Formats: sequence, C-alpha cells, structure tokens
Amino acid sequence: MKILAIESSCDETAAAVVEDGREVLSNIVASQVEEHRLYGGVVPEIASRRHAEAIVGVVDEALQRADCTLDGIDAVAVTYAPGLIGALLVGVNFAKGLSLASEKPLIPVHHLRAHIASNYISHKELKPPFLCLVVSGGHSHIVEVKDYTEMSVIGRTRDDAAGEAFDKAARAMGIPYPGGIELDKIAESGDENAYSFPRPKVDGAPYDFSFSGLKTAVINLIHNKEQKGEEYSVPDLCASYRRAVVSCLTENFLKSAEDLGYKTLVIAGGVSANSLLRRTLEELCKDSFSLYMPERSLCGDNGAMVGAQGYYEYLKGNIADTSLNAIATLPISEDRFQKL
Ligand code: KG4
Ligand code: ZN
Repeated sequence: MKILAIESSCDETAAAVVEDGREVLSNIVASQVEEHRLYGGVVPEIASRRHAEAIVGVVDEALQRADCTLDGIDAVAVTYAPGLIGALLVGVNFAKGLSLASEKPLIPVHHLRAHIASNYISHKELKPPFLCLVVSGGHSHIVEVKDYTEMSVIGRTRDDAAGEAFDKAARAMGIPYPGGIELDKIAESGDENAYSFPRPKVDGAPYDFSFSGLKTAVINLIHNKEQKGEEYSVPDLCASYRRAVVSCLTENFLKSAEDLGYKTLVIAGGVSANSLLRRTLEELCKDSFSLYMPERSLCGDNGAMVGAQGYYEYLKGNIADTSLNAIATLPISEDRFQKL
C-alpha cells in the first residue's frame, strides 16, 4: 500500500511516499529555518505563509521522485496535531483537497506518533511493545508504546522540552537558532567536567523531567562571567550543559525501563540526533537492552515518518471524514477526529 504523507506542523514543509509503512519511495523536506533564524525562533505566521507557498511543489516532487501519480497512491496521510495551528491547517486542508479529488482515504496522524514511527523505517524488524523516549523541540516524553496506535505517557517535562532547553542555552551563548544542533557540534571539542550543573529531579515523579532550572543556571553563569569581565569557554560550557541534559534524559529513561520491565528501548524526535545522547544510550544499553534509534536524517520533522505511522493508523481503521481539523495540543494517546 502506497501512502502519500504530508507534514507541516512547524517550520518544515514535507511530503513523502511510503510503501507498507516501512519502505520510503521519496522524502522531500523544504526547510524554512534560514528565515526564522532572523527572529531567533519560529514565527508562526511566517511558517503558515511559507507552507502555503511550498506545499504544491513539495508534494509534486515527492510524487515524481517516487515515480508515482496521484492515481498510483492508495491513501493520503497528514499530521493533524499537535503543532502550530496555522501551519497544521495548511497541510490538513491540502491533504483533504487531495483526498477528495482523488477519492483516496484521508489518514490523520499525530506528530509524536510519527516521530516514533521513523524507527519502523530505520529498523524493519522493530515492532511494539517497547518504551520510547520522545525528545523534540516541543516535547520530552517517556512513552509506553503498547501497540502501533496505542500508547501512554509515563514521564513528561514539567517545563521546557529538551530541544527547547538546548536551543535556549545555545541562544544565551550567542549560537543562532536552532542552536541545539550547533551546540551538539561545538560540545564535541569541549570538556564536559569544566562546569558543574544540577541534575534536576521532580519530587514524587521519578520519570518526569524539569529543564528550566538548568537553562537558568547556564544563563546566570554567562551573565556572571560577563559582568565580571571574565572569559568562559563556549566548547566547555556546551559540553558540560549537554552532559547535564543528557544525564537527566537517560537516567529517567533507564529507570522507567527497569521499573516497568521493558527490554526494548527506542528514541525519537529532533533531539534523538544528539551525539552524546546516542553514545550514552549505546553504552548504557549494550548489556541488558535492545536499543533502536532513527537514522539521523529521520530524526527531525519529515514526511516519511508520517507515511510510516499513517500505514498503521489505516490498518486500525483510523480514516477521517472531510470535517478533519487541525489541533494545536493533543495527547499522544488520543484520537480526535470524526471517523469515516
Ligand atoms: O522533532 P523536531 O525536528 O521538531 C519538533 O517536533 O519540535 O525537533 C527540533 C528540535 C530543536 O529544538 C533542535 O534544536 C533539536 O531538535 N535538535 C537537537 C539536535 N538536532 C536537533 N538538539 C540537540 N542535539 C542535536 N543534535
Ligand atoms: Zn517534530
């Protein structure tokens, strides 16, 4: 079954053709990051306008690269939640139009479920159940993936998401948006023991995260140094900060896996591209867990992951009627659309 998949929840206009949830026939991503960098973050209205401009070309290219026409696809999948509402609406309405015109089923896909599904593309043998750490610019969740479309969150951030924590610290160091990626690269040449940072815990919730204190600690450290006219090493600061964030993520993730008895561990989302997170988990998991990580090119937002998850939503009968709407905030465990 060939699915044409569309993703427009944030600042990437993306489309892909995916066969049977696992085989990527094409995957086109048009990034707007250069434009948003001017403002230090994503400007929602600009994002919506750029999606509107790019979407026809991106979908067309995805079909062409897959050597396919609209007639040759079996369904249209689209990210309908969560995300920037104006951005989502562009993809949702476009997908609805395509589905109506081609008389192909319309499959609504939750963005975080799609991130998890990027692993089905990278690892053909991977099947639920497993425990997944979903870390992106907007979310930090530990998710029990009981089945392809049945999940529950057992740990979450109380404040900033991991990606946000990286981006905000990077910004304080003068690294342009989205600084998480650059911070990771700079950290490779730094000493992670040069500065000490707290490892915040949430009382009574051992799997929850809290990154805002860590972010404040790095901002205070920089301001103090600047006020005193003292130098600080950006690579050392990046390395020490990255170590602190990654330790919080891996400690809670491993603890929850041990407590709940999961042996298969998976990571997903933009931050799953982080070099230290990947190395640390490889080391910690090598004796007692099977670890799965998406290939780096599938960690960030893309259409292929939407096509992968779309396939399993379709098998479950999750097909929407034409009243499908975009939703800015929606738990990963919930479906919120009128079924056909
Ligand atoms: O999943 P994603 O592409 O978009 C959302 O759904 O939010 O995640 C984007 C986030 C950004 O905060 C970006 O800085 C972060 O992922 N990110 C990284 C790395 N690559 C992307 N953070 C740390 N290390 C990286 N290598
Ligand atoms: Zn994402």
